[in-house]
Amino acid sequence: MIIVIDFGSQFNQLIARRVRENNVYCQVEPAGISIDKLKALKPTGIILSGGPSSIYEKNSPSIDKTIFDLGIPILGICYGMHYMVDALGGKIKQADKREYGFANLEIKENQYLFKDMDTGFQCWMSHGDSAMELPDDFVVTASTKNTAIAAIANHNKKFYGLQLHPEVEHSINGSLMISHFLFDICNCKKNWTMQSFCDGAVAQIKEAVGNKKVIMGLSGGVDSSVAATLIHKAIGKNLFCIFVDNGLLRKNEKQNLEKSLIVNLDLNIKFIDEQDTFLNALKDVKDPEKKRKIIGNLFIKVFEAQANKIEDAQFLGQGTLYPDIIESKSAFGGPTSIIKSHHNVGGLPEKMKLKLIEPLQLLFKDEVRKLGIELGINEDLIWRQPFPGPGLAIRIMGNITSSRLEILREADSILLEEIRNAGLYRKLWQSFAVLLPIKSVGVMGDKRTFANCIAIRAVTSNDAMTADWAKLPHDLLGNISNRIINEVNNINRVVFDITSKPPGTIEWE
Ligand code: XMP
Repeated sequence: MIIVIDFGSQFNQLIARRVRENNVYCQVEPAGISIDKLKALKPTGIILSGGPSSIYEKNSPSIDKTIFDLGIPILGICYGMHYMVDALGGKIKQADKREYGFANLEIKENQYLFKDMDTGFQCWMSHGDSAMELPDDFVVTASTKNTAIAAIANHNKKFYGLQLHPEVEHSINGSLMISHFLFDICNCKKNWTMQSFCDGAVAQIKEAVGNKKVIMGLSGGVDSSVAATLIHKAIGKNLFCIFVDNGLLRKNEKQNLEKSLIVNLDLNIKFIDEQDTFLNALKDVKDPEKKRKIIGNLFIKVFEAQANKIEDAQFLGQGTLYPDIIESKSAFGGPTSIIKSHHNVGGLPEKMKLKLIEPLQLLFKDEVRKLGIELGINEDLIWRQPFPGPGLAIRIMGNITSSRLEILREADSILLEEIRNAGLYRKLWQSFAVLLPIKSVGVMGDKRTFANCIAIRAVTSNDAMTADWAKLPHDLLGNISNRIINEVNNINRVVFDITSKPPGTIEWE
């Protein structure tokens, strides 16, 4: 097992994920972990994460320094490297030239972390401090134009430091550095797989739930379907699934879902029509955060009402994924700003009567898909593009009305049909239509029109943490635009969103 020590980096779970991609079990522990607890976990290696602090700041995160006496290999990344250098007697200073973004890494040895790599490749840096003097027995193993000490090693003790971030996709050879740390330095074994995650999760759910019952909202998406199948594997008929039609679904969604959920999953599902409840509660609500809160709270109320009808239902299952959690609150508990409150985390009432079971909360989307395949779920369901809990409510800018929902449903269904026909559905992370709150002038059949505008949003991404706008072929865009304007009443203009994330988010609200 590898332990990642959380020094507050927004990337610490990403580091864990990179380790797990190598089939090595990994967990993230807070910097305040006691040395006894750490020893009891028997890690084969430790990774000290980066973090936003400077090691000379008051209250900057620190870990018991006897960690360096345990005889366990350690890799320090960014702040983690600074921490190691400082703790072992070297010097860190604010650099004259800070480095944010890409840099060219010149390596001085092509062994250990840099085994079989040619010098001079792109890496991703994000630091204001730099190492100035090294502790005894350390050598510099790489530098960049602005950072003389960009990587360090004490080969005897198996201590390594990287100023760059090997965990981010943009660092060429980053994953390879991590795998060299795991297999060449820590001698890890490849024994953690989705099968072993699945066995562990099933055992944990059994233990937590016992003979009680779990209710769970199904959206028909990958996350809730995989979570429900996993919970079902653990507790069988004690899982009660509820599918709520909240009036914010896409065209034919309910019919498609009824088919795929019942055919694919041997689950006990109740369908409930709550369209009026949701649409009434959302009447005249324009503020995106208010919409999310209203929908989140209503979902919980509906569930609680259902739960009350089931004796011994004490748990609420949810398909929350890791990206939902980091964006809604800092995993570190710090002041990271809230970007959006996702309904399945931030919107929960404080005193919710049901306890949560969230078996996917440490997984990223691609890992959930792998798990779904492991669990035998149909591939069409596994490859569905994500659809947000608040549904079309956050794709209609401004007021939500039945007629606006109808317009969006029609436009969205045309867009998806064209994307599928072009063979792009699985290649895109998401593709959907957004109804804008403006009208513009047009001319159709010699008549002046003044009608609504649809935006096309299509993005590529691996985990929704970052995303790029998809470079859809112009012919395809033309077809989508033509069809939407010709086939959907009250639309006379279609625009294409060319914003990546960041600075945009994937959804518009
Ligand atoms: P953003 O818009 O934050 O979206 O870039 C990232 C991913 O999350 C989905 N999303 C949600 N999913 N409840 C969900 O279950 C929500 O409230 C929610 N908001 C956004 C979004 O579709 C994208 O895949």
